[in-house]
Amino acid sequence: VTIKTGAEIEGMRVAGRLASEVLDYITPFVKPGVTTGELDRLCHDYMVNVQGTVPAPLNYAPNGHTPYPKSICTSVNNQVCHGVPGDKVLKNGDIVNLDITVIKDGWHGDTSRMFVAGGAAAGSILANRLIRITHECLWLGIAAVKPGARLGDIGAAIQRHAEQNGFSVVREFCGHGIGKKFHEEPQVLHYGRRGEGLRLEPGMVFTIEPMINAGKASVSELPDGWTIVTKDRSLSAQWEHTIAITETGVEVLTLSAAAPPDPFKT
Ligand code: MF3
Ligand code: CO
Ligand code: CO
Repeated sequence: VTIKTGAEIEGMRVAGRLASEVLDYITPFVKPGVTTGELDRLCHDYMVNVQGTVPAPLNYAPNGHTPYPKSICTSVNNQVCHGVPGDKVLKNGDIVNLDITVIKDGWHGDTSRMFVAGGAAAGSILANRLIRITHECLWLGIAAVKPGARLGDIGAAIQRHAEQNGFSVVREFCGHGIGKKFHEEPQVLHYGRRGEGLRLEPGMVFTIEPMINAGKASVSELPDGWTIVTKDRSLSAQWEHTIAITETGVEVLTLSAAAPPDPFKT
């Protein structure tokens, strides 16, 4: 696990804000009738032509994977993560995660949010509750981060809140160190036990990105080799931030004007 210098974290801060600003930009387009492929194209063009960033997912090919064919991930309803944009048309009340990773000056910024096509009023009570609880899980995980805390403190906080609300935590995918590389050490599990795992130190930078299912935790992969869905076809939600550990606590790097705030901050 690498420790990043102040100058390196400044590079990550820029990349993180730009990733979040892609989500600000795309928000008004997430409406019934739009296709996930159109959302991908709009984000791609904004990153490349407006921001001068590189969409990290495009052609990303970790070992054993076919290169990822698009510039963002769009995971709809029972899709958990890594949904590949295409011809799918968003219907009123669909829920969708848009996951954006940009590269700026070699540094990666990685963040995702949930949306309801047609707005919250169009979504089911269950969908809205799943989205809210998952957002709270992310911020409870962030609140557990400070020097001397353990990685397990993050997972434990997330797991407890998800399960107390009758939901389940996806085990197969986790948060990750991030920097010059998209996915670095450590693995940040979204379940676990308080007091266990790596001790957190200032200068560590990683993502927290809980995937929470309304039904059972099990997932499977679609034949496209990327899209992950719930086995029981229940709804799934995810939110993601990139964070840096500071001398006194934590700094969220993927914030921007329209990023939803910490729900526990008064
Ligand atoms: N952005 C995802 C994450 O949070 C990774 C997507 S990899 C891709 O780690 F190839 F599917 F884009
Ligand atoms: Co990530
Ligand atoms: Co991501």
